[in-house]
Amino acid sequence: MTTLNDYFQNYLTNASATNKTEIAAVINVIDTITTVGKEITELLRKGALADIHGEAGAENVQGEQQKKLDVIANDLLLDALTANKYCAGVASEELDDATAANDSGELLVLFDPLDGSSNIDINMPTGTIFSILPYHNQGQSVSNNDFLQKGTDQLAAGYLLYGSSAMLAFTLSEILDINNDGVVMFSLNPSSGEFELVKKNIAIEENTKEYAINASNYRHWLPPMQQYIDEILAGSTGPRGKNFNTRWVAAMVGDVHRILCRGGIFLYPKDTKDPSKAGKLRLMYEANPMSLLIERAGGASTDAINRIMDYAPTDIHQRVAVVLGAKNEVLHVKHLHNL
Ligand code: F6P
Ligand code: MN
Repeated sequence: MTTLNDYFQNYLTNASATNKTEIAAVINVIDTITTVGKEITELLRKGALADIHGEAGAENVQGEQQKKLDVIANDLLLDALTANKYCAGVASEELDDATAANDSGELLVLFDPLDGSSNIDINMPTGTIFSILPYHNQGQSVSNNDFLQKGTDQLAAGYLLYGSSAMLAFTLSEILDINNDGVVMFSLNPSSGEFELVKKNIAIEENTKEYAINASNYRHWLPPMQQYIDEILAGSTGPRGKNFNTRWVAAMVGDVHRILCRGGIFLYPKDTKDPSKAGKLRLMYEANPMSLLIERAGGASTDAINRIMDYAPTDIHQRVAVVLGAKNEVLHVKHLHNL
């Protein structure tokens, strides 16, 4: 049994003089997020008894109704990360602007404190997503612009899944991953309160027969996306020559977790409901961190055509279309869009 603590200690032992400081900082920040994840897990276990259900009575910057637990999880992460000496600043789905932490810190942290909020009140899976970026203006207070870095610049990314068990999945960037562990998963042992390693080097199969999409938006999709789903629905007698199965958790963390565990494709495509929006999901604290995980596990992550991690961000809350998972399936979606 390897606890998260053992795992991190081993990393530090193997780190060379050149990367030790950066690895130590990243590990420390992941540890802080994980500690908050345990608190959120406890609240979710108590559920209605902890008064975490229902609306908070306010809207976030995206114009969405905040749930009580969105606000609680955001406050817990904000407090813990601003107290972490390695963290120069944080940006969150629930905060209009970035918040400065420690000017001498070398890292920036973006998070979606409670992903899949509509699942809270019905006792279904939710999660916390995080992305860690380098901070280049040490000594100065952070601004929103400091966060506008590409997904390829991420030093680490991951999520906590609050499901029937609580799990932590993360990956370090290729450069920092000195042990070549790729994407790793830990499960929270309720008896000890420790996260224990359950899997490493997670690999996504290139082909799949399982897809996740909210098909109620079908009429708003662009024609290539409609064609993709039409072909899937035609099953073994259609152009794809095989039967597919739908799965939809309504929390991106849950859908990405399933893909990391047993493959598949997840789509939240662009639609024409609100032409001002490039998609529903947010680039900086949903799509980029999930893209790093998926790519490090051998999958692909695009906006249907272009690689998500190559986007040069213009706004910390910008939205993007998302098509991620099994490589050949994601390529097929791109092929339909390029016809
Ligand atoms: O964060 C946005 C989110 O909750 C994702 O986790 C999830 O994939 C999606 O929205 C669910 O949206 P819908 O309302 O279309 O089911
Ligand atoms: Mn979310």
